[in-house]
Amino acid sequence: MINRRNLIKSTTITAAALFSGCRRFTNQQRAPSGLSAAFEGQFRFGTSIKNNTLQSNDTNLLTLIAREFNAITANNAMKWEGLQPKLNEFNWQIADKFVDFGQQNNMQITGHVLVWHKQIPNYVFLKDDKIISKKLLLQRMEQHISNVMERYKKVTEWDVVNEAIVGGKWLESKWYKIIGPDYVKRAFQFARNANPSATLIYNDYGITNPKKQQAILGLLSKLNNSGVRVDGVGMQSHFSLEKNFPSTDMIEQTIETFARQGYQVFITELDVDVLPRAWKYVRQPPLQQLHINEISIREAKYLDPYPNGLPEKVSKELADRYASIFNVFSRQSDNISRVTVWGTLDTESWKHDWPILGRTNYPLLFDNKGNPKQAYFSVLGEGNN
Ligand code: GLA
Repeated sequence: MINRRNLIKSTTITAAALFSGCRRFTNQQRAPSGLSAAFEGQFRFGTSIKNNTLQSNDTNLLTLIAREFNAITANNAMKWEGLQPKLNEFNWQIADKFVDFGQQNNMQITGHVLVWHKQIPNYVFLKDDKIISKKLLLQRMEQHISNVMERYKKVTEWDVVNEAIVGGKWLESKWYKIIGPDYVKRAFQFARNANPSATLIYNDYGITNPKKQQAILGLLSKLNNSGVRVDGVGMQSHFSLEKNFPSTDMIEQTIETFARQGYQVFITELDVDVLPRAWKYVRQPPLQQLHINEISIREAKYLDPYPNGLPEKVSKELADRYASIFNVFSRQSDNISRVTVWGTLDTESWKHDWPILGRTNYPLLFDNKGNPKQAYFSVLGEGNN
């Protein structure tokens, strides 16, 4: 592992390297640095990038990302609503920037996500305001997948399907209702045809849950038996500080279970929520989220306890939790291809607004100013900083 001083010394990327135009660093000039250097030889260390970071060319944040990480995922730029907002009208602008940034910094780029039930426009499932046939929906799926993967041939790792299973059963999404359970298989077939050598991933949350794990294993082995190969399993890994859920034992057992079946494991969206559970305030379906201001002041104080900063004690607990999670990842590094945190700065996290809106959360490794938090140093194995 590298220490903090080396970390600063090994920073070789400058804002000039971020986008073409000015001075450009070639791949050979990029020395590994930051988190990715610390885990070199174990797994790639990635982060996700938001649209506004790319659109505004936020050089401070992009410089930090280039320094610390060697893999990137787009938060939203490559989702269906981002890429094909209207039927057959593709919008490549932000995804192009994302891919350019990754290539210029010699990063592994993950395409996220081809088929999901969220962040997808309604038109996909409709024609003349009526639900379309299975045949037409499969055609649209194939066109989307082949267009996107064709344009981004150099993106060699794809989250093909996201969140098909809930609990131990199929999620009754529009994909499932119109096409039936075969939709996952078809998506992987289309993706394989579009880029035969790409690494294709099934991605989901809460996979440490035994029922869900079994259902996903069943689904993937069925695909495998029918000749459709899935290369990897993406564990989203939206973890909590509360009750240390899921336990490190559960995390490790899950990684081992998928690895034993021959799947590469990808930790795709890691964050650690420091706030109390608030699921009971979400009504669904249809999804209705309350804002923290709509909750009684007494409850709100409990639910949103750190609006002005994370107390030292909790910051230490978070650091310890991250350390124990990364101990598992290091032990399991033969089975893990990549660990990606879902955002770089705390300000970027979706966890301020999920499951209720308007709280202040601290789930990531850098504070709002881009300073490494205690959790960052504990990930590096430097627990006492
Ligand atoms: C899921 C998706 C991600 C992201 C998060 C919330 O985990 O896979 O793309 O939308 O939800 O931010």
